[in-house]
Amino acid sequence: MNVWEVKDVCTKVLDGINRYFVGNRLMLRKLLAASLANGHILFEDYPGLGKTLLAKIYSRVTGCVWRRIQFTPDLMAADILGTRVWRMAESKFVLEKGPIFTNILLADEINRSPPKTQSALLEAMEERQVTIEGETHRLTAPFFVIATQNPIELEGTYPLPEAQMDRFLLKLSMGYVQTKDEESLILKRRIGWRRDDPTGMIKPVIDQPLFVAMQQFIETDIYVDDQIVDYISDIVRLTRGHPMIEVGASPRGGLSLLKVARANAAISGRSFVTPDDVKMFVNDAMGHRMIMKMEYAIEGAFSVASILKEILDQVEVPKQFESDNR
Ligand SMILES: Nc1ncnc2c1ncn2[C@@H]1O[C@H](COP(=O)(O)OP(=O)(O)O)[C@@H](O)[C@H]1O
Ligand SMILES: [Mg+2]
Repeated sequence: MNVWEVKDVCTKVLDGINRYFVGNRLMLRKLLAASLANGHILFEDYPGLGKTLLAKIYSRVTGCVWRRIQFTPDLMAADILGTRVWRMAESKFVLEKGPIFTNILLADEINRSPPKTQSALLEAMEERQVTIEGETHRLTAPFFVIATQNPIELEGTYPLPEAQMDRFLLKLSMGYVQTKDEESLILKRRIGWRRDDPTGMIKPVIDQPLFVAMQQFIETDIYVDDQIVDYISDIVRLTRGHPMIEVGASPRGGLSLLKVARANAAISGRSFVTPDDVKMFVNDAMGHRMIMKMEYAIEGAFSVASILKEILDQVEVPKQFESDNR
């Protein structure tokens, strides 16, 4: 495998998604980058913007095994992980595996379940293994969660605890489609599908072994210069010292930035990371790990996003990459 092949395959995957999902290529690219970095992705947006649909399309196009859990107020940990049941015929307990044993787990409306249930996902997301009644089980590769949530100001939601937020590599939002043509295209596609959910009609563009091979290629073959490492460290450290910030980005935030930047280089057909690969993800990889001081948050003139932008303007960009404005 080489980096041009990776670019080629990635373009096919993105085209495959866009055959069903309308718009926002940049967001789709970020989704692809995060999952190629084996990271979990949180989509936050208002209902009806296509979060569930996109997660289904994506799972299908990548040829991975996927399961969906609809989070509800009465969902229990065992509904996610599984449980041991008594098999009469064999006179023994056997593990009935829960939906977590999959490649892509669609955790839909994750903030509608109470924290205790949400935290059942924690070990799985971080360790890529689960413990059920004292027994530890490894999860398959790849394994990542695509979670969706409605904005927390909507009624009947339990905001994810900070520890859980930090587990997501990226937090993305879909946004509305931009143009009237795109709006119409959603309607026309629906007429063509003759049903609400096109998932059953979608053919995989790649398969699970190729997906894993690309993940490994990114791990081993995408070069990260020391200057890029310094650049990321500078950004992360500035989030901590900022006067308006209560809690800055964690080291995991810096690692996240590194991982997605590498994946993005590969998607672009480039074997090394540039500052632009990093910049592109600063908000999505770090924003959800930071908390503003209450007085500034209430005042409303600044946001985590505006502070991150300020930090980016302040940090010195590595010189030898300066002309790279792809
Ligand atoms: N960008 C889009 N492209 C194609 N269909 C869309 C898009 N956005 C919304 N839809 C349509 O709107 C409906 C609602 O989407 P859904 O995924 O259930 O939203 P959410 O999970 O965000 O509440 C779906 O049936 C889907 O067909
Ligand atoms: Mg939904």
